[in-house]
Amino acid sequence: MRKKFICGNWKMYKNQNDAIKFIKKFKPLVKKARAEIVIAAPFTLLPVLEKQLIKSNIKLAAQNLFYEKEGAFTGEISARMIKDFADYVIVGHSERRKYFHEDNELINKKIKAALDEKLKVIFCLGESFDERNLAVTFDVVHKQLAEGLDGISSENLKNIIIAYEPVWAIGTGRNATPAQAEEVHFFLKQELKKIFGTDTRIIYGGSVTSENAASILKMPNVDGCLPGGSSLDTVKLAKIIKSF
Ligand code: PGA
Repeated sequence: MRKKFICGNWKMYKNQNDAIKFIKKFKPLVKKARAEIVIAAPFTLLPVLEKQLIKSNIKLAAQNLFYEKEGAFTGEISARMIKDFADYVIVGHSERRKYFHEDNELINKKIKAALDEKLKVIFCLGESFDERNLAVTFDVVHKQLAEGLDGISSENLKNIIIAYEPVWAIGTGRNATPAQAEEVHFFLKQELKKIFGTDTRIIYGGSVTSENAASILKMPNVDGCLPGGSSLDTVKLAKIIKSF
């Protein structure tokens, strides 16, 4: 069986001191883990974490990027800058869609910019609470998938991991049930096969905990998970990683 992909999303938590403490405690806990492990850290922590993680089985992700290669874009960070420290970048997280008004077109530009620099992409999508209640989940995720991946080659699809993150489950303590996650993952894999002739890994995010991870991760089309809150604690994250 292929290794599961577990990415902890630290969001805007932890300073340098917190991050170093975390990593020193976390590394031995997951040394022999069977999963692929990634920490998505704030930009400021990537250089120090990279040093701490030399020769370790833990990889790094940035949580965002700007799509231009370089230029007068005060406050922005390019794929090339991230590539110095990390292998992955998260694109399209619902918090960026909500607070920074990122739409599918912008997300598509960011995905292409990341792939151009050989960064691997963790591409997030998912429906809102209202959309689920209106029974339009499949329409919404189809549109996010098709527009987000517009113009991307099937060859490049293997450098993209899709994260299904229903917005109503993020930070709410109300995770999707294993069956709800599996249903959408299955649908997305079918859609990918229709568009690209092949599929890619799909991980689940939204209130994943050390208690519910095992039941979600055992679903056949759930290739990993993206815990936020639970990734801030070494023991909780290690438990998720070892839960299957
Ligand atoms: P959560 O966050 O696990 O705290 O719900 C997941 C995410 O936003 O990626």
